[in-house]
Parts: sequence; structure tokens; C-alpha cells
Amino acid sequence: MCGIFAVIGSREVSSLLIDGLRKLEYRGYDSAGIATIENLNNDQIGQLNVKKSKGKLKNLSNLIKQNTPKGHVGVGHTRWATHGKPDEINAHPHLDSSGQIAVVQNGIIENYRDLARDLKLKGIKFTSETDTEIIPHLIGLEIENSLANGLSQNEQTLLRAVQKVVTLLEGTYAIAVIWSKAPNALVVASGHAPLVLGFGEGEFFCASDTPALVGFTRTFLPLRDHEIALLTPLGIELYDDDGNRQHRAPSLLEGTELFADKRNFRHFMLKEIYEQPETAQLWIDRFLPIDLPSQNSVALPISKSILDKIEQIQILACGTSRHAGMVGAYLLEQFAGIPTKVYFASEFRYAPPPLSPNTLTIGVSQSGETADTLAALRMEKERRDSIDDDNFSFHQLGIINRVESSLGRELDNVIDIGSGIEIGVAATKTFLGQMLAFYGLTLLFASHRQSRTPQEILNLSNDLKLIPKQLTDLIKKHDSVSKEIAHMFVETKDVIFLGRGINYPIALEGALKLKEISYIHAQGYPAGELKHGPIALLDQHVPVVSIAIPGVVYEKVLSNSQEAKARDARLIGVSTYGPESDIFDELFTIPDVSEWVSPLLTVVPLQLFSYHIAAHKGLDVDQPRNLAKSVTVE
Ligand code: F6R
Repeated sequence: MCGIFAVIGSREVSSLLIDGLRKLEYRGYDSAGIATIENLNNDQIGQLNVKKSKGKLKNLSNLIKQNTPKGHVGVGHTRWATHGKPDEINAHPHLDSSGQIAVVQNGIIENYRDLARDLKLKGIKFTSETDTEIIPHLIGLEIENSLANGLSQNEQTLLRAVQKVVTLLEGTYAIAVIWSKAPNALVVASGHAPLVLGFGEGEFFCASDTPALVGFTRTFLPLRDHEIALLTPLGIELYDDDGNRQHRAPSLLEGTELFADKRNFRHFMLKEIYEQPETAQLWIDRFLPIDLPSQNSVALPISKSILDKIEQIQILACGTSRHAGMVGAYLLEQFAGIPTKVYFASEFRYAPPPLSPNTLTIGVSQSGETADTLAALRMEKERRDSIDDDNFSFHQLGIINRVESSLGRELDNVIDIGSGIEIGVAATKTFLGQMLAFYGLTLLFASHRQSRTPQEILNLSNDLKLIPKQLTDLIKKHDSVSKEIAHMFVETKDVIFLGRGINYPIALEGALKLKEISYIHAQGYPAGELKHGPIALLDQHVPVVSIAIPGVVYEKVLSNSQEAKARDARLIGVSTYGPESDIFDELFTIPDVSEWVSPLLTVVPLQLFSYHIAAHKGLDVDQPRNLAKSVTVE
């Protein structure tokens, strides 16, 4: 989703801004822009230069090559449209009426209509359809007042104006502001939307996410909610919302591959599918002990008191992460015997269930920045904190891939799935990492509570240890199979995915992957539901993908698949090879594994199937239209 990168120092910043924004491209965007201040006469007054363009960042960088904006301070933005079309006019930065103040913003200003109405009554004219444009206008008026009251044109005046204006804003925002009359200042502020400060040598940065800082500095400090910072070429001053100066030590970015390259792969998504065996092996090495099934022997950060106390679990997540949560819920209920419910975080926020005692709340998010998941977790914490009864305390756990994210910072207990940075917007290796985290939790709860026999626990643990090798073989095999058949689905308009039990969430995930990157309409159903409506859609033009793994529901899924075939649907199986395989027109074979671990494998051919159809259609696989990697708005 939208990205911010801003810099102040002693170098020309235009190309630095483009470099920083490039590292945020993977988040998804539809237009981009930068503004710099060219210092014309001795630090007193500068000239604001703005460049914007629709579409990819390369359009902006071509524009800049023709006429490079000069300046040692600047703000940059990649925009994912919320208010107003993705065009040049709505692209950030936005300016005040005098054209001296430039603002970039991430988030949504919920009261912008009221604020815009007041501004219009004061004669302000708007040039864009965005919610953001109110901010430079408000800052402009505030500065005008200050100057009329005798304050000078300097960075403190800008800082004070921003401090006042943010108190008027409702919703979520992260902003970066420059003013041509204070050419040695960059002011940034965060209200529920992430911003990190970066400390370089003689230059200072601000970005909406740490990957943008890679290559510039490894020293960073995340802004807390409602903090404001003033960046100058000499350093950074940090303030809380009461204007009190804050002093916190910055941290060091860890990891060597924070910004990965594609190696020899055509797309990041394919590379990330291929990295899944490594994700699984790393997870096994870190979390799966040798001495299972002794109690509490899975190395996860869950205290014994939580394990003893928890009577039920609720999982809050969105999209693919919710599908991982659904696999998790199946395991936690059916294997470990703990009642577990999964919620769309966006629904939970406004319609939570009545409070239940001794409940573990798990937030699942690869980015750790998803606005709905964060808000749902905050809301749950607030309502539990307001009750004076220990049984209703907030026990929480985050399953994330970015420990330095907002979710990582806000929750006391997190499982870092350690999948490494994922650039493709369509989640693949992080989905596997999230599912593995739930396998770990399941083993932990089952062994702690003795809800399964030691042998059953040992079997599951041993089956998990085989997964990396099985994934390697499966990826190799189905990469070529799905490449071969992709052309058959280029004209397809609708696909139905069927699964049952532990593989029902994989049917949902298969459908989500297909629609998001190939733009083919796809729907996942529990196979038993087919005849209750969706079967009306079936004919020779609507293929059905059926996940049929030997286990409790194997025969049932096969009968449901037969029902589809009887309606002339082309049947694609994700199944083990056996006498029943001939019902499938195409077959993605899966090794003969226990049904418990099968989702870790059945999802792989579906990822490859979607990937090859999208790649065959020549689509932008890594940055599909309208999508964002980090969904920071509601
Ligand atoms: C789909 C996908 C999304 C995310 C969803 C939640 O491939 O990646 O559906 O799963 O936007 O994102 P996170 O996991 O960052 O909370």
C-alpha cells in the first residue's frame, strides 16, 4: 500500500528518493511523486519542485531524468488510491494554496470532508479528490497565523504548525512535510500508521517501512503513535503529542537479505514458492525439538501459565493469513482439543463475540501492519483491560514475519515465522510459515494437555520433519506440470475450488491466489456445499479443482468431485495417486502423507497453477493490479 520515503542531508536527494521508493514498490501502488526544496538564497528561502506521474515508478524516474529537481531535502510517495482515481492529480505530494508546503500521507483521514468544508468556507480551492490535500492547506493556514503573530520563517514554525494540525485529524495517518521557507527541515508525524526514522552519516531519513532504509542506513527508530519528529541536516528531534522531547535509542536492522533480488527467477513469486522448503527446514530446526513428546518441548514463546489457563482460542486475520488461521483452528480443535474460532479481523472490530474467559487471542499477519488486524487486536485488548476480572485478561500472541512491524512491537508474545522478506504481493512462503507456526502451537498444546497420545504427537512431529524434502520434490514436479497446462486456462472465466476438513482452507487459498494474480474469478467451497447452490454454475467452461487426500473425508470429496464431473466440468485433482485418480482430467499428485500435514503440500500445486496461468497471460505477477502487500488502511 502507499509508501513514504523522505530524506534530508547534504546530498542531492531526487535519485535517493527514487531509490527509497523503489524498495517500497513491492507493497503495491498506482502512482508516485516527489517534492524537493532547492535552496536558492542562503538557507532563507527555497523553491519547491514537484514531480508526479501515474503508473509505475519508472515513469517518474524517466520524468526526473529529463528535468531533475534539485535540493537536499525531499519527500517521496507511492500511492495506492483510496480517495480519487489513480492519476497524476491525485498522486502525492499535495501542496497548499501558496505552493510552498508539500505533504505526503499514508492512511485515511476520516473527518476530511468536515475539514475540507471549513477550508472551502475560508476560500481554499482544492485541486485533487484526495483526503490528503486538506493537510497542506491546514498547515499553510496555521503557518500564516504564526507569521502574522510575529514568528519567523523557520523549522520551529513548521514543527509547531504540524503539531497543531495533527490534533485536528481523525483516522490513521503518517505524514512527511516540507516547506520552501524552511529548507533545512523535514517534519514527520505518525497517527496509527507506521513510520520509521533512519539515522545515516550526515543525512536522516523517514520511511513507512524499514526495507526502504536498506542501503542508506541500518540504524532505525520507529515512531510511536502520535509522535512527531523534526529532521534537519544536523539530527533528529523527537516529540510526543504534548510536545515533550523524547529520547530513545535507535535499533539496528537485522538480516542480510532485507531487500532480496530475484536471482534467476522470472518473478519474485516463483522464487518465493521455491524458497518454501527452506522456510520449512528453518522452522523445524528452530522450533521442533528432538525430544518430543515430552511436555512443553516445542520451542515457542508461550508461557506455562498461558498453556495451563487457556480454555479457548480466537484467531484474527485477513486474506491468506486468515486461511492459515483456519488450518490452525482445525488443528487446534481436532488435534489438540481446544475450541478455536477464526474471525475476519475487519468484522471482529465492529461485531466482536461476547467476551469469553481464559481466551488466547492470536493475530496472524505476514506484514504485521494490516490495519484491520491491528485495530481488532487493540480493540480486544481495550475491552478486556476494562474488566476487573483476571479470567478475562488479554492473553495474546502474534504470528508474524516482521518482528520490527507495528504488530511485533505491540504484542508481548510473538512467533516470528522467519520466512525472510516476501516481495511478491501474493503470499506464498509466508502462508507456509504461518501454517507451520500453528503446527507448532498444536504440538505444544497437545503435549502439554496430553490431549493426544505420545505416539500420535511423535507421529505428527515426524511427519513434519519430512515436509522440506517433500516440498522440494513437489515444487520441481508441479512447476513443469502447471507450466504445461497453463495455456488451457487462459480463456477461463470462472474456477471452483473444492476441499473439505483441513483442506477446505486450502481450497479458499487456491481460489484467492488464482483471482489475485490471474484475474480469473474463482471461489473456494467446502466440497459438501457444492450441491447446495454452486453446482448451478457448472458446465464445460467452469473447471473444478478438487483437493482429495486420503483421510476422514476422502471418499466424500471424491463423490462431490464426481458430481461436478457429471456436469461436464473439467476436473483437476490435487490428490495422491491411486485407482480413483482416473476421475481427474488433470492430476497434481501429492505424496501419500497423513491428512494432518497435507495442507503444507496441497497448497503448492495451487500456487504454481495460479502463477503459471498469470505468467502465461503476461500479467504483472508480483504487483497485481489494485493490490497491496501491506494493507495499512481499513
Ligand atoms: C494474498 C495476501 C493477502 C494478505 C492479507 C493480510 O496473497 O497476501 O490476502 O494475506 O492482506 O495481510 P497480512 O498477512 O500482512 O496481515
